[in-house]
Amino acid sequence: MTLVVEQPRPVTGEVKRTQSDPKELLMDGGFVVPDANSFGHTFRDYNAESERQKTVEEFYRMNHIHQTCDFVKRLREEYGKLDRVEMSIWECIELLNEFVDESDPDLDEPQIEHLLQTAEAIRKDYPEEDWLHLTGLIHDLGKVLLHPSFGQLPQWAVVGDTFPVGCAFDECNVHHKELYFAENPDHLNPKYNTKLGVYSEGCGLDNVLMSWGHDDFMYLVAKENKTSLPLAGLFIIRYHSFYPLHKHGAYQYLMNEEDKENLKWLHVFNKYDLYSKSKVRIHVEKVKPYYLSLIEKYFPAKLKW
Ligand SMILES: [Fe+2]
Ligand SMILES: [Fe+2]
Repeated sequence: MTLVVEQPRPVTGEVKRTQSDPKELLMDGGFVVPDANSFGHTFRDYNAESERQKTVEEFYRMNHIHQTCDFVKRLREEYGKLDRVEMSIWECIELLNEFVDESDPDLDEPQIEHLLQTAEAIRKDYPEEDWLHLTGLIHDLGKVLLHPSFGQLPQWAVVGDTFPVGCAFDECNVHHKELYFAENPDHLNPKYNTKLGVYSEGCGLDNVLMSWGHDDFMYLVAKENKTSLPLAGLFIIRYHSFYPLHKHGAYQYLMNEEDKENLKWLHVFNKYDLYSKSKVRIHVEKVKPYYLSLIEKYFPAKLKW
């Protein structure tokens, strides 16, 4: 059994810390880490003997075989048109609520619970950073790609950890040892299978193609609909599933200085994304007015998706 809950990285910069019950285990920002997820297992325990384990493994087999450079370019272009649906952020939250994420061994709750748990946990510890509360609320909205009105993409093209395509697949990628990447056509392509591949050292993540999924889609939606969220918020949305980087420190040579700054906030955010997937219940109607006010502050009333 692999226990993958780690000590947080040190976070520098203007990140605030608060205190909570000293008897409980404190992480950065004073957020209390529960010791079990919705199924009673430790977090991100991909080897736990859960009913979901086989599904998760098959999920990553498909994901690692089919996420190629060509695939990503095609999907990014197609979905980047944002010509499918017009709706508000809150309408999207309600639409998303119909789905459960197959790739995630920790989560068996409606998505709205996870979104609000994440946002509310951040709000408690960082009361001044309203942009970070909203980032918590919307970070997974790209999962609407699973919905019929978005072509009902398979789970392996929507959720799960992300990684760069166009360069060699790092061994820090989850399930790398099962060698599913060996069946990815890019793995045999000399243009794409070296450490840097088509990229150059320090080129900046903005110039790197990531495996296609809900992160990059929601980033495109937010950017193209002219959100006023700070760049760190957009960075969190775009790379929150890039666990090889923000958990294992892989692919750092692709980052530029701006990425390194934004990564500090992603490290803060990730603890809330991961550890809020527990049995904490949120009273939706009670907190909804606050989040509607944030949506109004940072987004237009209707967005193109
Ligand atoms: Fe996500
Ligand atoms: Fe999430």
